[in-house]
Amino acid sequence: MKGVLFDLDGVIADTSIYHFQAWRKLIKDHFSLNLPNELEQQTKGVSRADSLKAILNFLNINVSKEQFEQLAAEKNQTYQKLLNNLTPKDILPGIQKLINDFKSHDVKLSLASASLNAPLILEKLDLRQDFDAIANPNEVKLGKPAPDIFLQAAKEIDVQPKDCVGIEDSIAGINAINSAGSLSIGVGEKEELNKAKLLFPTTADLNYSQIEMAWEQASAKLDNFE
Ligand code: BG6
Ligand code: MG
Repeated sequence: MKGVLFDLDGVIADTSIYHFQAWRKLIKDHFSLNLPNELEQQTKGVSRADSLKAILNFLNINVSKEQFEQLAAEKNQTYQKLLNNLTPKDILPGIQKLINDFKSHDVKLSLASASLNAPLILEKLDLRQDFDAIANPNEVKLGKPAPDIFLQAAKEIDVQPKDCVGIEDSIAGINAINSAGSLSIGVGEKEELNKAKLLFPTTADLNYSQIEMAWEQASAKLDNFE
């Protein structure tokens, strides 16, 4: 195991809640509608534009290209306001220890977030210096569930995807890691993240030794197969 590809929202900090709050406010303000909870998982890990498409599609709302751009920008403004108060105290339980464990085992850290706000968030959490690379979602063709952002994140630390593990809280993200050929580690519920190769209920349960063991087992299986 030479690299770890981290998702950000919902794994490193609880910002996925803020994303959905911002979408809720946008739809309420513009269309006087309440967004159902089921849309939260559908928009997790998915780019800003794809999330808005999914929401409008679900609500059967058509908008012009200009209005679409304006709605996406307004959502981001609300989201950034919610990020204002973010401090290192908002790092989710267990994450700092896990980061330290990866670093002390010489595993390189790369960020594979779909969020264009990721560099800002890492700065606010005082974690920027812990990461060897941040993959830029603007530089990849397809968003999650396509593997592109994870492949890019691995490339930026000069590690083969098969020598990496990826950590995710979304269904789209787990599918992306599996397609990239890295070992997928889910944080969340079994019913939702059933395609994760290793699953922890919460970030506080994440455990370096278990991750390393799972990676060793998976790579031994691959070697036997070859
Ligand atoms: C992902 C979130 O990390 O980033 C999604 O899980 C979000 O909910 C996506 O839509 C894009 O984020 P941003 O900050 O660029 O709007
Ligand atoms: Mg996430």
